[in-house]
Amino acid sequence: MMRLLVTGASGLLGEKLTSLALKRGFETYGTYNINPIDVSNSVHLNLADRRTVLDVCKKIDPDYIINAAAITDVDLCEREKNLALTINTESAGYLAEASRMIGSHLVQVSTDYIFDGKKGEYSEMDEPNPINNYGYSKLLGEKKVSSIARSWCIARTSVVFGWGREKRPNFATWILNGLKTRKNFSIVTDQYASPTLNTNLAEMLLEIAEKRLQGIYHVAGRDRINRYDMAIKIAETFNLNKSLLSPVESTGISWLAKRPADSSLKVEKSFKELNNKPLHIEEAITQMKRTENQENRGNNFK
Ligand SMILES: NC(=O)c1ccc[n+]([C@@H]2O[C@H](COP(=O)([O-])OP(=O)(O)OC[C@H]3O[C@@H](n4cnc5c(N)ncnc54)[C@H](OP(=O)(O)O)[C@@H]3O)[C@@H](O)[C@H]2O)c1
Repeated sequence: MMRLLVTGASGLLGEKLTSLALKRGFETYGTYNINPIDVSNSVHLNLADRRTVLDVCKKIDPDYIINAAAITDVDLCEREKNLALTINTESAGYLAEASRMIGSHLVQVSTDYIFDGKKGEYSEMDEPNPINNYGYSKLLGEKKVSSIARSWCIARTSVVFGWGREKRPNFATWILNGLKTRKNFSIVTDQYASPTLNTNLAEMLLEIAEKRLQGIYHVAGRDRINRYDMAIKIAETFNLNKSLLSPVESTGISWLAKRPADSSLKVEKSFKELNNKPLHIEEAITQMKRTENQENRGNNFK
């Protein structure tokens, strides 16, 4: 039986990765830091601690490691630059060191925010140029992995959404909760990305790990779309009142960290090489709707 270690198993992606891998029969270990998870083989691991990272990896001795842990709050990364560099950069380096030591394949999950967003539809060949500290710390994390690990893949994704624990809202659940409580929303029209359903992403990443694919892959949703249009599609699919959504431009909004205007990713390489294909946005939202009641949302968490 193949052994898999998922870091960040208490996160939006990591939870789905862990449950999918368990279903597929992998001997699966999932790590958390602050939010305990109620799955078999869960391990507490603070990734800031190099010695412990090396020890835990050595003990588990996985065939594959998927690093889905990160500080993902973009504004927090701007305020707490050292925290971002510790977890998004240094910890990726510790995992790379561990993977090299034990001969496992490391899949480092990265982000579209390593690009400046001036061009959009970025391919794996495009030059990164982050405009905020989250993107910068993740790009340095990529560099740690590619320079230290022997067998590695960098899998960049974009605006992850789907069901997950209540405490960790995402764009889709935020829109749904707001519409269900009849809130009026202003949603930006001038920020484009390639939104990615967490369960679809988990399937693609697991395939990448199993096949030990090497190099950089853009693993995201198949469509470039702005936030407002995505919100409208969510409202339509879930039969909620879309007139509560108003379009705005981002110029009036003051975020601490700058956001790339168009960080959408080209996913042709993944589409060609993977059996699990990136979903179109409508398919992804429909799949989310279909699993609304059957997914035990939040139940894996204590
Ligand atoms: N969310 C997005 O829209 C998006 C977009 C592009 C790329 N990505 C990338 O996709 C990956 C997964 O993101 P996500 O949204 O699933 O993340 P998330 O929901 O924010 O979860 C982050 C995970 O990292 C763990 N973590 C944080 N600090 C840690 C530490 N010191 N030690 C150990 N674990 C720690 C958290 O554990 P606890 O909760 O237990 O503390 C949690 O499991 C990340 O690499 C992210 O950069 C995400």
